[in-house]
Amino acid sequence: MIFYLNITSLKMMTMKHKPVLLDEVLTALNIKENGIYLDLTLGGGGHSFEILKQLNHSGFLFAFDQDLVAIKQANTKLKDFKNYKIFHTNFKFVTKYLNSENVSEVDGILLDLGMSSFQIDDSQRGFSYMQEGPLDMRMNTSNPLTVKAILNTYSLEQLTTIFKNYGQEPNSYKIAQQIIKNRPLSTTTDLVKITDLFPSKGHSAKRVFQALRIYLNDELTALKEVLPQAFSLLKQDGVLAVISFHSLEDKIVKEFFKEKVEERVIKGLPTLPEKMPMRYYRKKRIKPSATEIEKNPRASSAILRVALKN
Ligand SMILES: C[S@@+](CC[C@H](N)C(=O)[O-])C[C@H]1O[C@@H](n2cnc3c(N)ncnc32)[C@H](O)[C@@H]1O
Repeated sequence: MIFYLNITSLKMMTMKHKPVLLDEVLTALNIKENGIYLDLTLGGGGHSFEILKQLNHSGFLFAFDQDLVAIKQANTKLKDFKNYKIFHTNFKFVTKYLNSENVSEVDGILLDLGMSSFQIDDSQRGFSYMQEGPLDMRMNTSNPLTVKAILNTYSLEQLTTIFKNYGQEPNSYKIAQQIIKNRPLSTTTDLVKITDLFPSKGHSAKRVFQALRIYLNDELTALKEVLPQAFSLLKQDGVLAVISFHSLEDKIVKEFFKEKVEERVIKGLPTLPEKMPMRYYRKKRIKPSATEIEKNPRASSAILRVALKN
């Protein structure tokens, strides 16, 4: 039998976001049916949907996303549930928003960092080096700065710093030089033509696109600001689960957990009997199974870390 797909269904297939490490996240969160949960990165609502399925009418989910397109998609997915509320904001403001709801403690928090598939797959958002589109990359489209403005106005030193610090790009300086020489740049293709001059392992534009996205959306600062808030908002035995997709994010999460969980050892002295603020769910990072990666290659770089409040 032959199946014909029309363009719309084909588009929906590529744009749908598959929740990463779903079983592992749900097991770690150990959902209480009347609990209060936070999904700080709602995206298409994949994780939220499964959390809501496990809640009864006394349970509640607060979800956050800075991207209105994500919120629209998620609202459609979650339309049959009543016990959730979505905030269109950066998750670094989580405490303020929960205070406005008179909520000071929650049972579990999920952060699934990075981007949704529909953000990457929509060429008009400019996140993908595989498709031609405007040089945009804003997760929150009310941000006045775009990648186009950065590439066309920042100095050689500033561009080099962005590519080095947020992309670990070995050819940062040379790429920045070429960008300045070829100004004005207006599409993702213009940028890829420049990175293609410097072939390296993987796609030549991968690290530069990552760097620009992280810098423009101030992703690492938001992560550093949200982790202590998430810790403070947890009840005793509450669970904090964080999925990151590259080493810069994972390093921040790993160090945050380490400081809260591991006793400080001073060489030559006995360890002080100290109650640590958190404990590991599993000390080692959790990675997607080979089966998950086969079904969803975008999951391949995912790293889940989980800790509980003491
Ligand atoms: C990987 S997706 C989440 C996918 C979701 N777990 C699912 O299963 O559908 C990450 C989402 O977080 C959002 N996001 C990233 N950083 C954010 C921030 N600082 N504040 C609010 N939302 C953010 C992105 O817009 C994106 O929609």
